[in-house]
Amino acid sequence: MSLAGSSRPLDTQPSPWTPASWRGFPVRQMPVYPDPQRLSAVEARLRRYPPLVFAGEARRLKASLAEVAAGRAFVLQGGDCAESFDDFTANIIRDTFRVLLQMAVVLTFGSSVPVVKMGRMAGQFAKPRSSDNETIDGETLPSYRGDIINGPAFTSEARIPDPTRMETGYFQSAGTLNLLRAFATGGYADLHSVHAWNLGFVERSPLAARYQDLAARIDETLSFMKACGMTAETAPQIRETEFYTSHEALLLPYEEALARVDSTTGETYACSAHFVWIGDRTRHLDGAHVEFMRGIRNPIGLKVGPSTEPEDLLRLIDALNPSNEPGRLTLISRMGVDKVESKLPRLLRAVRQSGASVVWLCDPMHGNTISTTHGRKTRRFDSILGEVRGFFEAHAAEGTWPGGIHVEMTGQEVTECVGGAHRLTEADLGRRYESFCDPRLNAEQSLELAFLVAEELKARRLPTPAAVVAA
Ligand code: PEP
Ligand code: CO
Repeated sequence: MSLAGSSRPLDTQPSPWTPASWRGFPVRQMPVYPDPQRLSAVEARLRRYPPLVFAGEARRLKASLAEVAAGRAFVLQGGDCAESFDDFTANIIRDTFRVLLQMAVVLTFGSSVPVVKMGRMAGQFAKPRSSDNETIDGETLPSYRGDIINGPAFTSEARIPDPTRMETGYFQSAGTLNLLRAFATGGYADLHSVHAWNLGFVERSPLAARYQDLAARIDETLSFMKACGMTAETAPQIRETEFYTSHEALLLPYEEALARVDSTTGETYACSAHFVWIGDRTRHLDGAHVEFMRGIRNPIGLKVGPSTEPEDLLRLIDALNPSNEPGRLTLISRMGVDKVESKLPRLLRAVRQSGASVVWLCDPMHGNTISTTHGRKTRRFDSILGEVRGFFEAHAAEGTWPGGIHVEMTGQEVTECVGGAHRLTEADLGRRYESFCDPRLNAEQSLELAFLVAEELKARRLPTPAAVVAA
């Protein structure tokens, strides 16, 4: 399947962009709201509400991502496949945030570079679906498209797209973001507590002996820093962290309504999150999603699946980052463990040869979804780790920087992915399978992945930034 359209040739000037110009382009994965007046009323209210993030924050993230593009930092992006209106509690937000911090500490040690932290949180509600309908026991209903669009219950009422859900999504995002900001700067993120949580994880793990060494080395480093006078009292970096929010910018009426002109630069930002991305099902050069995303000034992402051809990718890069601004564009590779080796290298090469400045992330989740005999979706821990390894291999061979990982995870002990040190099997999945969408790594599996990736990073002795830049 070729995703590059021909209606936006490279040699003509794109038509003027506005937050609403996407409406003139073919749009995919968009709900049809039965009551357009109700939809307009919600959009009008959202346009008046305060932005969730402000432009200066998005610019700061872009600057950090420019460091990643230059091989001087690493990214950890993680969170639910889809946030849910029912799971809107302090504990759930805290637990996901905590596991992301724990993973980040381990990855910082493994990569020896700063780790940029982004949650799939505070706005990750809208879901692309492979089919418009779902059939259960002979009954067919419209698919569930995420809580910001319709409800997961298998009833015809629940599945009707309801625009007021956008408002609920906005307020839930505001509440989540408020708590995340408090956690990030209010002392919860203190490096010493995060490390102590990691020691607890190592103690509980059946692979404790394997993780002990890395944990002990982090311990030593922290004691050394303390001895040098770097404590929570003296160094804000020890007690605070920067944490950014991100989601797939799928529901364009919502994104348009939250776009704001930055008063200092006159440029437009998507103010629903710091970072937004284009999904693998909506990355059409001639489509509405690419049109909306090309005009906002946030750092943005583009999912890159196995059907992506190098020339299509270069056209998309050109449309989304015509001035080749470092940090602006992150390519999120999601090939699957079986395809990463055959599909990724030529894309890495084409992008490197084009001179485009991009961040490469590995999403080892979306190419590795399988169906169990009971028809449940799951993912094998070993496939996830295998794709990350394949991603590192490909970058090592091409002399490019493996910029980070993007995972679907939760701080809860759910049983959705199989494998890991606790050896979850298909028989365990029924115990606590809570995702309405894709299967997530649970807290223990997420930390395990971080430890294994850190080991890998250390063992590979990633090329020094200078070597990457020179490549
Ligand atoms: C996702 O990230 O949840 C998703 C739907 O991914 P993709 O667009 O890569 O399939
Ligand atoms: Co998903």
